[in-house]
Amino acid sequence: MSEWTPTSWREHPITHQPEYPDAAALESASAELASLPPLVTSWEVENLKSQLAEAARGERFLLQGGDCAEQFNACTPEALTNKLKILLQMSLVLVHGTRRRVIRVGRFAGQYAKPRSSMTEERDGRSLPSYFGDNVNAAEFEDAARRPDPRRLVNGYERAALTLNFIRSLVGGGFADLHHPEFWNLGFVRHSPRATEYQQMVQRIGESVRFMESLTGIAAGDLSRVDFFTSHEGLLIPYESALTRQVPRRKGWYNLSTHFPWIGMRTAAIDHAHIQFFRGIRNPLGVKIGPGLNGGELPSFIEQLMDVLHPDDEPGRLTLIHRYGADQVQEHLPKLIEAVQATGRTVLFVSDPMHGNTVKTDSGVKTRRFDDILRELELAIEIHAANDSRLGGVHFELTGENVTECTGGARGLSDKDLGDDYKSLVDPRLNYEQALEMALLVSEKLGR
Ligand code: PEP
Ligand code: CO
Repeated sequence: MSEWTPTSWREHPITHQPEYPDAAALESASAELASLPPLVTSWEVENLKSQLAEAARGERFLLQGGDCAEQFNACTPEALTNKLKILLQMSLVLVHGTRRRVIRVGRFAGQYAKPRSSMTEERDGRSLPSYFGDNVNAAEFEDAARRPDPRRLVNGYERAALTLNFIRSLVGGGFADLHHPEFWNLGFVRHSPRATEYQQMVQRIGESVRFMESLTGIAAGDLSRVDFFTSHEGLLIPYESALTRQVPRRKGWYNLSTHFPWIGMRTAAIDHAHIQFFRGIRNPLGVKIGPGLNGGELPSFIEQLMDVLHPDDEPGRLTLIHRYGADQVQEHLPKLIEAVQATGRTVLFVSDPMHGNTVKTDSGVKTRRFDDILRELELAIEIHAANDSRLGGVHFELTGENVTECTGGARGLSDKDLGDDYKSLVDPRLNYEQALEMALLVSEKLGR
């Protein structure tokens, strides 16, 4: 392999990048980003990597969740606290069910860019660039809005910094205190069909914490704050490389735009720019694996992927996020597990039960059915167990708001309810009740 530098990706073919009309403006935005402070630190990145290593050994469980695409105008205190609350609640449920410590990773503070199936969108005979996420252009179907604007990379960096600042203060300041899970209550506690179940669990956890403290005479200090990490798809390589830095007293380079970048399924070609950029950084990496790769090619793809991204079998380095869909997971997942086992390397396997289960309603609305999502997760748990492997985490698109984007769940949302409050500009998310219910059901299954 040729020598790696933060810009050597430029020698490789690259896909799913916006076509910026003004190359000089992109250079100047990248230079500005490169001069600004990092968003996360190498200590945090290394801490997450060692926690992911524990998850790969079955000692922890990963919960990763957030929007498909964060929007700049959703950087509000309500939206952020609600997102934090639902992730904290889900993690509590998962700790209870799995009896393992849970690693909390938000799809936030940088999830602003999306790969799209088509570079252009046509409406009423007009063709404009697709909406690639707020880091690239705006969603309105207007010439100016859809023109890719590199200043947005700097705006996105600033939104990410605001998001992180608020989340870090909440988490560090006692909001995530396990003595007070009532701080995280969302409106659902009064309305959700699952409210009683959750409340009883919270009460039992509170009692155990107090029991342990009175028994040992030691305050459970560790329970008053938790770690929270960030992740996003590392799609726009100019952004990622501008925030890739060397740090004193450590070897190599760190992508300090996020703790845990992942490579999307559409950009995971081995000799392309994305894999070739990420191979050179020290962060833990996720790679999305979908049904596009059939049995014949999969073993050689996995072997090459390991050689490029995971050559030293470094604990915690590589997470494979499989997203096959409920109808295809039985056909594909055993082959993936077998292909990984054949390489002799250790990875963390995570299920994304969202992206293989997207359907369109009769009226053309993108949605996902709660039961399909749950079915893929349950099958994934069983398939790993039957193949001498282990599902070590889950990856959801969700929100703490009461949106109507996915159907099903205890409240029985149907296709005709989707119009009530459909906010996502890209993929449909579980709303807070659906997300909590999903956590309760998955956690039961994992506990068994
Ligand atoms: C996503 O996670 O929003 C996404 C685009 O996923 P995938 O690459 O798996 O399609
Ligand atoms: Co998505």
